[in-house]
Amino acid sequence: MVVVREAATLDVRFFLNGQKVQAQSDPNLDLMSFLRDQLRLTGTKNGCATGHCGACMVIVDGKATRACLVRMSKVKPDSKVETIEGLARGDELHTLQIIFIRYGALQCGYCIPGMIMSAKALLDEKPIRTEDEIKAFLTTNRNMCRCTGYVHIIKAIKAAGECMASGKMPEALGPEGMEIQSTQLRKDAIEIVTGKKQYAGDIVMENMLHGKVLWSEHPHAEILNVDASEALAMPGVAAVVTAWDIPGVNRAGVIEVNRDQPAIAGREQKARYIGDSVASLFAETPKLAEEALKRIKVQYRVLQPVFSPEEAARPDAPTVHEKGNLMHHSRIERGDVEEAFKQCAVVVEHDYHTPRIEHGFLEPESGVAYPTADGGVTILMGTQTVFDDRSQLAEILAVPEDKVRVIQVAQGGSFGGKEDPILQPHLALGALKTKRPVRIVMSREESLRVHVKRHAADMHIKTGADKDGHILALDFNVVLDTGAYVSLGYDILENFVVFAGGPYYIPHVRIDGKSWYTNNVLAGAMRGFGVNQVVFGLEQNVDEMARALKIDPFEFRLMNGLVPGKATVSDHVLEAGIPGINETIIAAREALRKVTIPAPSGPTKRIGIGVGSAVKNVGFGHDIPESAGTIVELDKDGYLTLKVSHHEYGQGALAGQVKLAVNELGIPVDRIRIIGPDTAQTLTTGPTTASRQTFLTGNATVVACQDLRNHLFARAAELMDEPPEKMQFRDDEIVELVSGKHIKLAALGDRFTFQHIYTPPRTAAMLPVGEPSHYGKPHFKSRMTHWAYAYGTQVAIVEVDIETGEVRVLKVIAAVDIGKLLNSKIVEGQIFGGVVQGVGFALKEEFIVKDGINLTDTLHKYKMPTANDTPEIIPVVVEVPHPFGPQGVKGFAEAPSLATGGAIANAIYDAVGARIYALPAKKDKVLAAIAELSQ
Ligand code: FES
Ligand code: FES
Repeated sequence: MVVVREAATLDVRFFLNGQKVQAQSDPNLDLMSFLRDQLRLTGTKNGCATGHCGACMVIVDGKATRACLVRMSKVKPDSKVETIEGLARGDELHTLQIIFIRYGALQCGYCIPGMIMSAKALLDEKPIRTEDEIKAFLTTNRNMCRCTGYVHIIKAIKAAGECMASGKMPEALGPEGMEIQSTQLRKDAIEIVTGKKQYAGDIVMENMLHGKVLWSEHPHAEILNVDASEALAMPGVAAVVTAWDIPGVNRAGVIEVNRDQPAIAGREQKARYIGDSVASLFAETPKLAEEALKRIKVQYRVLQPVFSPEEAARPDAPTVHEKGNLMHHSRIERGDVEEAFKQCAVVVEHDYHTPRIEHGFLEPESGVAYPTADGGVTILMGTQTVFDDRSQLAEILAVPEDKVRVIQVAQGGSFGGKEDPILQPHLALGALKTKRPVRIVMSREESLRVHVKRHAADMHIKTGADKDGHILALDFNVVLDTGAYVSLGYDILENFVVFAGGPYYIPHVRIDGKSWYTNNVLAGAMRGFGVNQVVFGLEQNVDEMARALKIDPFEFRLMNGLVPGKATVSDHVLEAGIPGINETIIAAREALRKVTIPAPSGPTKRIGIGVGSAVKNVGFGHDIPESAGTIVELDKDGYLTLKVSHHEYGQGALAGQVKLAVNELGIPVDRIRIIGPDTAQTLTTGPTTASRQTFLTGNATVVACQDLRNHLFARAAELMDEPPEKMQFRDDEIVELVSGKHIKLAALGDRFTFQHIYTPPRTAAMLPVGEPSHYGKPHFKSRMTHWAYAYGTQVAIVEVDIETGEVRVLKVIAAVDIGKLLNSKIVEGQIFGGVVQGVGFALKEEFIVKDGINLTDTLHKYKMPTANDTPEIIPVVVEVPHPFGPQGVKGFAEAPSLATGGAIANAIYDAVGARIYALPAKKDKVLAAIAELSQ
């Protein structure tokens, strides 16, 4: 029996996972907090605390119940509460848990305990369920997942029900879904399905304080004074941190040369959006921290704000930053665009708009920090960039970098949204000031308010093609609102410009992009990095040109596709042997031929088919220095440890590195251990972003493994007097296969450590604004702006209701070029997740900001796709090994999300003859577009 004594007013008594619980509780406390904070059962996750995400799902008296919505006063005496911790019997996992792992239904894992509990409630009632029933149940219970696209989850629940009905338990784990998992990664998966996985917000340290951050009340204001005296006088409040506590430089930002944001607003730094922090407070309990935070008084001098690029561009506009409001201008001019348009048989010209998009990761930002004996600090958090965090903190704290250690812990999704510094300065300063461990867990409301969004974009796109269907000219103009700080906006604008021509060869181009500072939430990295917006507009222009010329959409794309020998709009002539877009176009067309096109489901319904193609960079490119390192250590017992700085956030990063090592060394997965990003243990590497780390770290892993193998086999060859070519590792020895001779690793040494830092080929910067392309002129040289690209082509099949304007995506074929397949379940999971994010982008999602304030302040208001929105997704893996990639592999995690928006927009046109120029394509917009046809 568990007995908990707390100073509170209500006696609660219920059964928890079969055990009687008697405790005292605040009657207004919610069941989720009671389980997590009072009983330390952190398998029940907190994704929102407002009933909108399903991460806290438990079963109460047989019913799936969101624990955050249940007050303790409403928990009936003797009611039966089941949580994820009670599902397995000792080491014996529940059928659902086994099948979730086997079906690869887990990525970041943060939603998974809630999903499994919902599924259990559903299947306990009746185990045989259709996919539609499962989708409806998950949607009704608001079980959200941002990673998986729900596909593997739905299939896993269905299969688990069938097992439960037949009484046949699944066999032990693997191999399906676990095909490349080492023992350690399998253990991680088991921790996810049993709720034992510790994200930063789950970590509890002895003597730990709880922090809360105070955000700026105003989008543009000077901080004249922060008076925390009243808060500090409250018993249990340990410290308040403000900008005046910063011993070093009050400056932060993910890219060192562009660090333009305050670590904490105050002192010489003003607040430029309502997500700027002004102070943080550390107290004995989260509740006390929240209460005390309200007692901090901030004196502001409110400044005139700027809320749009148009306002920002006015000559008399208030300046967000001293350097002016134009954050960056990027331009490409090649050939004679006006003359080329005159040669065109068809010219298409439109304005397009895409809104701000929220990452929607299920785990809001959180972190833990503790002071170390040497006067430094260690930070544990789900970050995408431990080394950039370290360099910023060293500057802020005015300490050498070796006094700051940043360790990446489990991360509940990110999609680019966890690169920027938010909590790190507060955690570090809080731990150092209080000399105690501190933890900060952001609420969903704070998370939505503070972290970067995908840029809203206004694009004007004019394209022309000759009568045979060759695209001759492109005139592209984009204006971006980058918000308060640059974040990665500089590079994102350049991505807009470099990929404005899509995956097509276009000889004459004029592309102009401007990105403006405003006092809105900052925009930054999100899966796709500027390409999703371009694709939505450009692919509709392409579709319109093909239709006007009566050319099949696949043929039109193939005719213009970027293939070796052709130049991108930024003058990179693709090298021979490097794949282009056409393989994915052909693969998608083949897949479409095999698909049955559904008939409309009613008299007001129309079916449409649309195609979209896209290309995106792998790696930063643009002359930004990049490198990554791996350390490999083989011990005398034949166990290998890989140390990599490839951040895992559910995309299968570590599994990929393990697989590369397995392929290289032939050492079985169960002998391989992997250590992820930790500034004290792994090699300095930039962020895991831009689909770059599989390529960069992967190459480092491959070469480090080769060095290890070559060295040991050469030593063994000497000692055994046999050639090294036919040697292999086997358990704790090296065996020569022809002679059968073998030698113990212990005879060669105790431990063998090799490391390699991989640096990819140097890339070219963009030409400065005003310098036209030299393409076609004497002495022209290809400008390799990126060392690799990921390509994708998608076909969307939609049904549009002409009476309501509702669009349903029925099927999506997603052909993605990945270089070389490492793990089919992981690749499928990335494709499903990316496509469903693309469906949300096309039809539902819009993060609304008005006068600098985010009106989208709950997950309920932000319409992310639910299980019901998941179409049938047909993944088509295109394997063209990349010559520079590790074993031919390249990063592709962003590629599956790129083309979906354009393909859906084209499918809507195919269905009803109306074009959508601004996303999301909600009912009223589609209906208005249809109505316009008859005017
Ligand atoms: S935490 Fe309860 S529904 Fe999100
Ligand atoms: S696996 Fe579902 S939110 Fe990440």
